[in-house]
Amino acid sequence: MNDKFILAIESSCDETSMSIIKNGNTEIGTVTLSQMDIHKQYGGVVPEIASRNHIENITIVLEELLDKSNMKLEDIDAIGVTYGPGLSGALLVGLQCAKTLSFIYNKPLIPVHHIAGHIYANRLVGKFKFPLIALVVSGGHTELVLMKEDYSFEYLGGTLDDAIGEAYDKVARVIDLPYPGGPRIDKLAKMGNHTYKLPTPMDDDSYNFSFSGIKSAVINLAHNEKQRGNEINKKDLACSFQETVVNIICKKTIKAVKEYNIKQLIVAGGVAANKGLRDSLNKLCKENNIELLIPPIEYCTDNAAMIGCAAYYALKKGITADLTLNAVPVLELN
Ligand code: KG4
Ligand code: ZN
Repeated sequence: MNDKFILAIESSCDETSMSIIKNGNTEIGTVTLSQMDIHKQYGGVVPEIASRNHIENITIVLEELLDKSNMKLEDIDAIGVTYGPGLSGALLVGLQCAKTLSFIYNKPLIPVHHIAGHIYANRLVGKFKFPLIALVVSGGHTELVLMKEDYSFEYLGGTLDDAIGEAYDKVARVIDLPYPGGPRIDKLAKMGNHTYKLPTPMDDDSYNFSFSGIKSAVINLAHNEKQRGNEINKKDLACSFQETVVNIICKKTIKAVKEYNIKQLIVAGGVAANKGLRDSLNKLCKENNIELLIPPIEYCTDNAAMIGCAAYYALKKGITADLTLNAVPVLELN
């Protein structure tokens, strides 16, 4: 079989990223320009600023990628692109670039769901063994997904309110940590103790999650302490929050793995970079004899390599789009 090279583009939020992936699992090269420092000053991603920066960055990223990978656009077999979910204006920049390249070089255009991308980041680490369960934990998602074969996704449950990354970022903000707060809470948590008593997030029989209660409890606690002139112990609060949310995520994940008789668990999304979650899942999977795949930290947050891996499997299923492909800011995974 001839090698298949996919040029992948990701621009759904604040990273302009392009990658060339061989056969759905080998990274030839990736170039990512992050806008994090620009958005940090606003405490979160400003959509209009993100779109403008994608426009400025995207041709620079493409040139650098081809240069670094020592490849020409003629060598590429197909173009994969994130078309949703994400920020509309940001998605459109990547899409327009993908459609233009697809038209000029006459290559198939593959529409990729951003979360499918996060899941397929794990193909850079190892083979998928079906049926498997994917735990998706990111800034916009907290979901348990059952996969019986490649590029097939069955939703088992997910958050009813805030996504886990969103809860992390909001908790960080209330204790004056800069955006994005998730990694900072993670770092502080390691140095603290579980001393604050926080409400347990929804702990029912379903595979749904709810983090708005614990998020509000932390916000109220921080405000009350401030009003009383008391100092918050940030390390202890970070540790208490992290242990509480990691516990419930792990509990529901292992329950799903057992119910569906799963031998392989894969973890995806920005919060998969969380040390507390990685350690707990590692331990639980060892105890229960389950194989665990988690991407290296740099492939947990947004990048185009994951989109290239997903695109390869989407193409194998015959999923392609024509030039009318549009950005879909809110998009289910199915
Ligand atoms: O997957 P991602 O890059 O963007 C989305 O698709 O949403 O995830 C970004 C989210 C942010 O909320 C960020 O705070 C969180 O992932 N995050 C973390 C860690 N690293 C990134 N949350 C907790 N611990 C971390 N180490
Ligand atoms: Zn993402």
